[in-house]
Amino acid sequence: MMKLTTAMLALAGLFTAAGAAAIERGDIERGEDLSLACMACHSVDATNNNPEWPRLHGQHSEYLLHALREYKNGNRDNAIMQMQVDHLSEQDLRDLAAYFSAGDGQLYTTRPGR
Ligand code: HEC
Repeated sequence: MMKLTTAMLALAGLFTAAGAAAIERGDIERGEDLSLACMACHSVDATNNNPEWPRLHGQHSEYLLHALREYKNGNRDNAIMQMQVDHLSEQDLRDLAAYFSAGDGQLYTTRPGR
């Protein structure tokens, strides 16, 4: 009986860990939906972008998530971006970071012929 309980607890722990990992990664499809609000300034095709608007596609998700959190908590002081993330949840930020990091981005542009 004791062993069974231990095994069940261990299993429950595994499922919790898997769930937490999924949340930590973020949902790419949900992030894509949310990203529509960002495209005016952070479009995939950066040719129409203002040079002051960073290119996000292909950026590392940890970097993106960190930047978004810093705008939200005010440590990174930028009025435009603070307005963008003000109403977003932690999960929204994770989904957005997952989406933008999943793409093939302009960050990797040392390709010939460009
Ligand atoms: C009105 C234009 C505009 C919109 C819309 C916008 N951004 Fe930004 N974004 C900016 C500007 C300008 C900066 C640079 C701010 C700074 O200097 O910190 C920036 C910076 C960022 C950065 C930091 C990039 C880096 O390299 O450090 C991230 C991440 C980001 N935006 C994500 C988003 C997301 C996600 C959305 C949509 C929810 C969004 N932005 C919507 C203009 C915009």
